[in-house]
Amino acid sequence: MRTKTKILGIETSCDETAAAVVENGNRIISNVVASQIDIHARYGGVVPEVASRQHLLTVIPVIRQAMTGISWQDINGIAVTFGPGLAGSLLVGVNVAKAIALAKNLPLTGVNHLEAHIYANWLAHSAESSLSTGEETVRVNCEVQFPCLCLVVSGGHSDLVLMKGHGQFEKLGRTRDDAAGEAFDKAARILGLGYPGGPAIEHAACSGTPCLPLPRAWLKRSHDFSFSGLKTALWHLAHKGGVSVADAAASFQLAVADVLVAKTIEAAKQLKVEQILLSGGVAANKTLTQQFLANSPVPVIIPPSHLCTDNAAMVAACGYYHFEAGRISGYDLDVAPDLSLG
Ligand code: KG4
Ligand code: ZN
Repeated sequence: MRTKTKILGIETSCDETAAAVVENGNRIISNVVASQIDIHARYGGVVPEVASRQHLLTVIPVIRQAMTGISWQDINGIAVTFGPGLAGSLLVGVNVAKAIALAKNLPLTGVNHLEAHIYANWLAHSAESSLSTGEETVRVNCEVQFPCLCLVVSGGHSDLVLMKGHGQFEKLGRTRDDAAGEAFDKAARILGLGYPGGPAIEHAACSGTPCLPLPRAWLKRSHDFSFSGLKTALWHLAHKGGVSVADAAASFQLAVADVLVAKTIEAAKQLKVEQILLSGGVAANKTLTQQFLANSPVPVIIPPSHLCTDNAAMVAACGYYHFEAGRISGYDLDVAPDLSLG
């Protein structure tokens, strides 16, 4: 690899069409995200067929925009998300990436979307992120140190993963039912708030207090999570009537944060990791991040909000380390909608 390696990342696994160019795995040159949220909001969730058709319409303009001012000759490789995600959506990104790789004679690498979320933490230090020493929160340029404990909390996954080095993941825990983001989305629907649920709950919670009794599934002696009981308890509370939506949102948000923070910190102590790395859309939640920063005995790296939710810069960053390790995909790269991590 040359001293300055630029990777084009492409992401179409769910409802964001995204392309980005990242240099040396950590410096964002361009980062374009075309969100389909407005289109899916009227249905209250992502409609897979609509998502893939929308990716078809936007993927080329989004890549063109990400390549503005950059010559193809300066691109050293293409990284594309090949799973997990919606099959029809993944197919658009994978096929466009293959076509460009062939036409421009560039190496291609297929990237696991969950692994990519974790790599947003490498971009974090070029984008000013939060690092906590446990006593105070400071803004610094922080480098990731191994071994680290990664909490990936997105719309489809809640995984606790030990990362010992680049590409070395050991899954310790996962959700046994709803993912954390999915729980936020369902809770927002119960409370009559908008889609996506995470930002809607967070916004509503600002004017409430977490005063309502909601359960926490601790699942002792396991690193797994469970959020469906909490969702059901919220449903019962909401249907009893007389409950403030703002208080319900604040109470729900705190219940999710309590469990994610306590279980992750407990695992971090057990495993004696150097750092905790947060990622995925739910990591954009300020109650969650503040609790981590206030309680963790080890530094916590948190990507800025726009790098927590789906984007292609994280795919390009992850792809850089694939290329470094010689992990190159062939033109037979296929989508893997059920791909997992570790
Ligand atoms: O990582 P992501 O953009 O896409 C997936 O890979 O799923 O995560 C989307 C999820 C949604 O469930 C959304 O409600 C949640 O992340 N989310 C949040 C916040 N922003 C997005 N959850 C809590 N608080 C937020 N501020
Ligand atoms: Zn995601």
